[in-house]
Amino acid sequence: MREPPDSIDTQIWVRMSPWYKAAQRASHLAHIEKADDPEFKEILLNSLRHFEEFSESIGFVEGWSEVGHNFVEVRWLPHKLRYAYDYRYLTEIFLIIAIDGPAASGKGTLARRLAAHYGLPHLDTGLTYRAVAHALMQVGLPLDNEKLAAEVAASIDLGALDRAVLSTHEIGEAASKVAVMGAVRRALVEAQRKFAASGAGAVLDGRDIGTVVCPDADVKLYVTATPEVRARRRHEEILSGGGVAEYEDILADIKKRDARDMNRADSPLKPAEDAYLIDTSEMDIESAFRATLDHVEDVLSAKQA
Ligand code: DC
Repeated sequence: MREPPDSIDTQIWVRMSPWYKAAQRASHLAHIEKADDPEFKEILLNSLRHFEEFSESIGFVEGWSEVGHNFVEVRWLPHKLRYAYDYRYLTEIFLIIAIDGPAASGKGTLARRLAAHYGLPHLDTGLTYRAVAHALMQVGLPLDNEKLAAEVAASIDLGALDRAVLSTHEIGEAASKVAVMGAVRRALVEAQRKFAASGAGAVLDGRDIGTVVCPDADVKLYVTATPEVRARRRHEEILSGGGVAEYEDILADIKKRDARDMNRADSPLKPAEDAYLIDTSEMDIESAFRATLDHVEDVLSAKQA
């Protein structure tokens, strides 16, 4: 029995409108009709059925295709479903989602959920600043030597960012300090832009994504919440993890960090002019996710119209 190839090198985004779906179905069937091996034909027909049910339920399908071979691998299924198709019938969408906002606004959770929903790679750019601060701290180097910090920034491997190690409060504070330095930002922004351009789209979250890193992003979100709500969330997070902290101290830290991030000269935290604002002060994460998803879908529909 024939199997699709294992090496896959081109990513294609597919969004199917009803007319497009019908046209695609006809082309699939014509294609399947040509299969010479009855067993393979049966697999293709089954796959098409699963694929249609699945795409019906999510509206979006991500495919991986190897140009030159008529195979696509559809992800997000319990088992990897593969079916044959002619890639020329697919529409490409390159989707970049830029998410900015202050600490504990919920932007990280929204970024992760949007990335999972659309099957896009995600970069938490805060981790890149944290990695620079962490590398300096580990060897006892000062946080305010711009040349040194920029050299460290240029060597950061985006594939080796360890959230478990980098997410401490102390590293966050230090990251906010190294993030004021222009040379550090230039090195990290270059790496972040490469990440954004490396596939068929990406979700990036941080402080300057919509304004500096990806000013042409398809979707820009600015996620915020009052300092009090954010401090309460952080406080509850620490307590539920078995830690000890005073709410007032966390609130003071959050305000201090906001001031540093919003008032620095280089790439201060602010909404891009065309950002969609989401205030999560009185929203749970599920409602915030639904609201952002509706917005992204609206943008995608407008793009396709
Ligand atoms: O989101 P976070 O707490 O992991 O970010 C840590 C610090 O990094 C934050 O205080 C400011 C800085 N940062 C930045 O300046 N630009 C970004 N795009 C992301 C983070």
